[in-house]
Amino acid sequence: MNINILTIFPEIFDIFNVGLISKSIKKNLISINTFDIRKNSINKHNHVDSKPYGGGEGMVMMAEPIVKTLSGIQKRKVGKVIYLSPQGKKLDQKKVISLAERKNLTLICGRYEGIDQRVIEKYVDEEISIGDFVLSGGEYAAICLIDAISRHIPGVLGNQDSYLKDTFSNGLLKGHVFTKPEIFESMEVPSELLSGNHKEIEKWKLESSLLQTFLKRPDLLENKKLSKKQKKLLEELASKAIL
Ligand SMILES: C[S@@+](CC[C@H](N)C(=O)[O-])C[C@H]1O[C@@H](n2cnc3c(N)ncnc32)[C@H](O)[C@@H]1O
Repeated sequence: MNINILTIFPEIFDIFNVGLISKSIKKNLISINTFDIRKNSINKHNHVDSKPYGGGEGMVMMAEPIVKTLSGIQKRKVGKVIYLSPQGKKLDQKKVISLAERKNLTLICGRYEGIDQRVIEKYVDEEISIGDFVLSGGEYAAICLIDAISRHIPGVLGNQDSYLKDTFSNGLLKGHVFTKPEIFESMEVPSELLSGNHKEIEKWKLESSLLQTFLKRPDLLENKKLSKKQKKLLEELASKAIL
């Protein structure tokens, strides 16, 4: 997968020099290319922003440097153009999975009060928000988006199946997880997980997943079609949790 990023701070993406994404880049599973919008500034002071028409607070990123930067990317490598914006549709796992299937993506990172609306109207295919809060720059949202997408690219994760069991992948939260030692500060790992009984372990994991979803994100259960067995388990767990 090829991801192009338009930004005035390409150095922020040095973050991809470590961890899972760095390995995936080395394995040629992902290529991430930054394009510095400031290099296409149209004024001698290298500015890429100007005061908003009609007045008001802050500065707005000008259309021309962004569009010039965009046109510097090979046409066949542009793909879907996304503007990271608090006004966009909120990112969720479904969207992440559908984006991970694409060959090319281009992300525009805004700064200041955002980018000139005419860029959005003519060049942006989709606006995406990472949540109902305002960041100082789209770069941080792009990092989240790229990280989430990369987990779904074949070969990126050591265990191909692990994203299939992640929170949200089956509409539920993942249950509690434990590792060594068996007892930590007097707290014990649930005995079912140490039992070696595969059926018992799977039942415990499902219960934990259902219970955590019920306690932390009951809204997810409203849209989830549960099997008869899951429904029964949930009813039992819910009655215990309420008592
Ligand atoms: C300070 S914000 C601009 C906010 C804008 N004045 C508004 O009220 O809608 C600067 C940039 O950060 C990015 N950004 C801020 N919050 C974001 C969010 N929740 N999701 C994605 N991008 C965000 C956008 O690229 C935006 O252009």
